[in-house]
Amino acid sequence: MKVAAITGGAQGIGRALAMRFAEQGYAVSICDVDKDAGFEVIRAIRRMNGKAMFLAADVAKEDDVERWIRLTAEEFGGLHALVNNAGIGRSGPMTELPMADWDRVIGVNLRGTFLCSRVAAREMARDGGGAIVNIASTRALMSEPDTEAYAASKGGILALTHAMAVSLGPQRIRVNAVSPGWIEVRDWQYGERASIPIHSERDRLQHPVGRVGRPDDIAEACLYLASEKAGFITGQNLVIDGGMTVKMIYAEE
Ligand SMILES: NC(=O)c1ccc[n+]([C@@H]2O[C@H](COP(=O)([O-])OP(=O)(O)OC[C@H]3O[C@@H](n4cnc5c(N)ncnc54)[C@H](O)[C@@H]3O)[C@@H](O)[C@H]2O)c1
Repeated sequence: MKVAAITGGAQGIGRALAMRFAEQGYAVSICDVDKDAGFEVIRAIRRMNGKAMFLAADVAKEDDVERWIRLTAEEFGGLHALVNNAGIGRSGPMTELPMADWDRVIGVNLRGTFLCSRVAAREMARDGGGAIVNIASTRALMSEPDTEAYAASKGGILALTHAMAVSLGPQRIRVNAVSPGWIEVRDWQYGERASIPIHSERDRLQHPVGRVGRPDDIAEACLYLASEKAGFITGQNLVIDGGMTVKMIYAEE
């Protein structure tokens, strides 16, 4: 049985990743800082007779990550895929942004991606190889004002993706990035965080495909990149945004 480790798997895109990988026959190990939400995903996967485990872990902390990956490999007998999905944003005018916010965003998004990848790579190399998928963002390529920390973390993930693809190639580990555009996750949250999303016509129409994205749009791409079907793809960034970033928009008068 193939084994997938998913960071931030308790809610949002990560939850969809956990469910889809489990549906496709992977044993799924998720880590998250939200315990209640994490255990709820595990119960949902077990209800459909899937194999799953959860560990409360912060991807920015070395001890947490080492423990999570070690326990995953012990429980399921190896590791074949890692999706670095956990991510946070803190926005605010760059002249005022507390440096602690900058450090935390870079710490979770960029340091966390590197940390999980290198611990997972040691495990995958023992097992003949594997695949890493990093969730970046279209904000690695374009910005709204006041989003420097998030944009820098995601741009860093794209650079890290090609760097790791080259370093880990000899160990038969492929590394790719997926850059989501606007993905609606309000209805993929746990408990009181969940709400029913409403999108305006304008929201839909700024996407050439005519709708806002769904977590499954990202999960499908990650499943493909993790699979042998993508055996000749490494170091790439796949933008999944319904065409939003290729659509030219002129400011209204
Ligand atoms: N939703 C979007 O429109 C969108 C667009 C582009 C990129 N992304 C990226 O996709 C990923 C998932 O985003 P989402 O919208 O599903 O977010 P979300 O907030 O719905 O879910 C993120 C999950 O990560 C967990 N998490 C946060 N910090 C963590 C940490 N330090 N260690 C472990 N887990 C942690 C949270 O508890 C949560 O369960 C992020 O990397 C985000 O930057 C999202």
